[in-house]
Parts: sequence; structure tokens; C-alpha cells
Amino acid sequence: MTFENNKAVVAVYPGSFDPVTYGHLDLIARGAMIFDRLIVAVAPNLDKDALFPAKERVEMLEAVTFGRKNVEVDMFDGLLMEYARSKGARVVLRGIRAVSDYEYELQMAMMNRKIEPGIETVFMMPGEAYSYVSSRLVRELARLHGPIQGLVPPIVEERLRAKVS
Ligand code: PNS
Repeated sequence: MTFENNKAVVAVYPGSFDPVTYGHLDLIARGAMIFDRLIVAVAPNLDKDALFPAKERVEMLEAVTFGRKNVEVDMFDGLLMEYARSKGARVVLRGIRAVSDYEYELQMAMMNRKIEPGIETVFMMPGEAYSYVSSRLVRELARLHGPIQGLVPPIVEERLRAKVS
């Protein structure tokens, strides 16, 4: 995908990814098909009850995106828009699963546009099989020793089990 100026389009896909789920991976695959370069950017979720340290979230993302040529994994601190600008990104990619995601995402997209009008937020929908999968529910299931197979890649499953055992 290129705009009129023929420059490669860099997109940042930010999130907590605590941990990465098959829903995130589905979105990464969709984003990688459209954008020239996709940077999956892990934000340390300061105000949340994080299960994995940011470094470990990055490691898991690197493992599950290995081999995808136009996808890279990074970590950022501070304002998303400053980070996206520093990477030369034209797009911030976010996933919307259900209407319930929309209000928060709209608010965030508008605020981000105010901070940096030159970067567009693009929303994509994960496959319907993942429309109910969230990191928060996966963490909860894992903590309660519930079934997490099919929700996260095997390497994440292993780390989740080790974490809560
Ligand atoms: O996966 P999440 O937790 O829904 O991701 C939220 C995230 C990390 C994208 C958002 O909290 C964020 O952009 N944080 C960085 C700080 C920032 O720029 N805040 C202003 C957002 S309007």
C-alpha cells in the first residue's frame, strides 16, 4: 500500500499484549497484508494488573511472528503518537471485536488525532472465531486453571501455565 507520494506505509499496531492471543495474531496477519511495514509495539500497561513483564510480552510476540518479513516487534514508553512519529508511521492499527470496543477506541483515536493529525487510526476486525478472545479473559482463565487451548499460541499457553502454577 502506498499513498500518492509513493512512500512505503509504516503502521504501528500498539497494545498491551498481555499476553498475545490468536485474535492479535489474526490482526497482525491482516495488517501485514495491507501495510508495507508493521511494527507491533508493546506498551507497558502501568495502570493494569499486568501478568507478564513487557520484556516477556515482546519475547512471545517475536516468537509467534517469526518469519513474517514485514513485521517487527518493539516496545515503547510514553505517548503512542510520539513513538509512531519517531518511526515514520502513517497509520496506527487497532482491532475492533464488538460494538463494546468502539466507544473506547473512538475516544482514543480522536485524542490521538488531536495529538498528531498526520497519523490515521485504521480499524480492522479480527476473524469472527476470535471476536470473544481478549487478553484479560485469557489471564483470568489461566489464573483459575481454565481451558486456554485454542485461544493463544502454544508457547504462550506454556508460559501462562508456568506463570500460574
Ligand atoms: O491493548 P490495550 O491495553 O487496549 O492498548 C492500549 C494502548 C497501549 C494502545 C494505549 O493505552 C496507549 O496508546 N498507551 C500509550 C500512552 C498514550 O499515548 N496514551 C494516550 C492515548 S489517547
